Amino acid sequence: MKNILSALFFLLFSCSVLGQTSVSQITSTAEFNNPLNNVPPEIAIIPEPVEVTKKEGYFVLPTNVTIQCTATPETHQVLTFLQEKLSVPTGSFVTSVSGKSESAQIHLLINDKINHTLGNEGYQLTVTPNHITIKANQAAGLFYGVQSLLQLFPAAIESKEPIEAEHSRSTEQIEWKVPCVEITDYPRLGWRGLMFDVARHFFTKEEVKQYIDAMVRYKYNILHLHLTDDEGWRIEIKGFPKLTEIGAWSVKKVGDFGTFPAPAADEPRNYGGFYTQEDIKEIVQYAKERFVNVLPEIDVPGHSLAAISSYPELSCTPGAENYKVRSGERIMDWSRGAPPIALVDNTLCPANEKVYAFLDSVITQVAALFPFEYIHMGGDEAPFNFWEKNEAIKALMLKEGLKNMHQVQGYFEKRVQKIVESKGKKFIGWDEILNGDMSPNTAVMAWRGMKYGIEAAKNKHEVVMSPTEFAYLDYMQADVITEPRVYASLRLSKAYQFDPVPLSVDPKYIKGGQANLWTEQVYNIRQAEYMTWPRGMAIAESVWSPPAKKNWPNFFSRVEQHFKRLDAAETKYAPSVYDPIFKVSRSADKQLLIDLSTEVSGLDIYYSFDNSFPDRFYPKYTEKLTPPKDATMLKVITYRGKNPIGRMMNMPIEELNKRAGRK
Ligand code: ACM
Repeated sequence: MKNILSALFFLLFSCSVLGQTSVSQITSTAEFNNPLNNVPPEIAIIPEPVEVTKKEGYFVLPTNVTIQCTATPETHQVLTFLQEKLSVPTGSFVTSVSGKSESAQIHLLINDKINHTLGNEGYQLTVTPNHITIKANQAAGLFYGVQSLLQLFPAAIESKEPIEAEHSRSTEQIEWKVPCVEITDYPRLGWRGLMFDVARHFFTKEEVKQYIDAMVRYKYNILHLHLTDDEGWRIEIKGFPKLTEIGAWSVKKVGDFGTFPAPAADEPRNYGGFYTQEDIKEIVQYAKERFVNVLPEIDVPGHSLAAISSYPELSCTPGAENYKVRSGERIMDWSRGAPPIALVDNTLCPANEKVYAFLDSVITQVAALFPFEYIHMGGDEAPFNFWEKNEAIKALMLKEGLKNMHQVQGYFEKRVQKIVESKGKKFIGWDEILNGDMSPNTAVMAWRGMKYGIEAAKNKHEVVMSPTEFAYLDYMQADVITEPRVYASLRLSKAYQFDPVPLSVDPKYIKGGQANLWTEQVYNIRQAEYMTWPRGMAIAESVWSPPAKKNWPNFFSRVEQHFKRLDAAETKYAPSVYDPIFKVSRSADKQLLIDLSTEVSGLDIYYSFDNSFPDRFYPKYTEKLTPPKDATMLKVITYRGKNPIGRMMNMPIEELNKRAGRK
């Protein structure tokens, strides 16, 4: 019954779209995706393309498909990708030809004459009832055209299994059709990054590939791998076997990371892992075939406890021989802000020549393994308290005329930069590295806030914007009562406000933008996906689409279509955007007042105070609530019309009283 109804609905919906577009052509999905009319948008591409013109009719995928593709090694990757994407779910037989072909239905063509508007990554996609054509200057553009094309197919195109088998007992047959359209599209920025912290928790190479599969749907082109930290050293370095024999392993803990008691001496250190150099090559190749560059990060001089636990001589603090890879116990005191006070010395010693010899070996091997032109050398959150009392550091300061610890770090960064550049690579680090008076050829990743990126750009440094306020994917997406606890929040709507190119800077210094997934509280790949999507879509649109095209209600209507695509792909995402937002205050007579709202429009909130589970037959929230005298729990759930859409949230009244401050 449900299938027949949905088929009917689909028919009605298709007619209405056809009727609409036969009257006028439209140049933006924003114009025909009206999120308030409850009709799912038929064209829902993320990131929003530069220009979209809807045409009449549909291309229907035949059972035998021929793709004509300009023959180069790089276009071959695109062809293989599309062949697999089309043939697996649909069961169509997909072949290819390289020469001109009248019988081919799909054409992937490299322009003979450069189209300057498109640049290196842009594309033109034309869908007519008989043909699909993607044209680009380079193979990368064809790949992004393919991503947009796939998003025009029904969501089931994302299935990793043939759909027929699944649907054989139903009356519904998926029609693999694509609305006719003309799209011209190219990115706003060349650096569209996602950082994946594989150090705090280890993720296998297959999981990293899975992460890449998801990111390329949204036209990300840089995977920043945070390879080393206090909790693990994740890359094999020849000549330093202990980095992976000792440095890659901690004691398995689950719960609230950062609060665990220090492990006992006899607890097994068998949690973690690392990538062999062969694994790294495999990841880099997999990424390359999907037009993703891999940016390696070796985070020094702070965040280095795994390296020091392996080679204590890299520290200049007595007692480092007893240090162990961190298993989530408290090692920093942040109560006085940044830089933190270290409880164990997790810094490499800037006054120790062995450190630079070590880094030379590491960087030589990293430079050979990762073809990307940049190497990220961290530089964030280095605590100074152990350096301050160290005799070797004091002697270095005297010798080099360094006046304070920022200059000591600056001395270190300059030496590391020299090593990186000696391997033919560009040096990039977190924005603290600029405290040390670096030359303009130092690129920075601005994380502490947009203002650090703005300042760096004004000083003529290349900048990648990845500020906490918009782009930190480890932050909670909704209320702490439904999310794993982290110290800060970042809702989808806020992530969508990310503008990596502030008006006050010369845009030529802004290389791009990036979202960062730190994984202290992310214990598995499903949670990594949950934290990344849908906020990763918001960041993708912020770095790809023209700012004038950004529109929150329209974006969210597309996100909802992409939830179906991620369901089909079995990629996890957070439904947190549907959860109500709790605000509390007190009335003049000190009563608790509870204000409920939602991040997206068109939802109703139903609630109970009697511990039973509210549904749409319960009171609907319309104005601030005061709990009945003895109530202990407020339960809420959001609906869209008759359908529950948010999660059941159980909010203790005690918690709300705490948030409002005591009476
Ligand atoms: C950072 O978040 N510490 C770069």
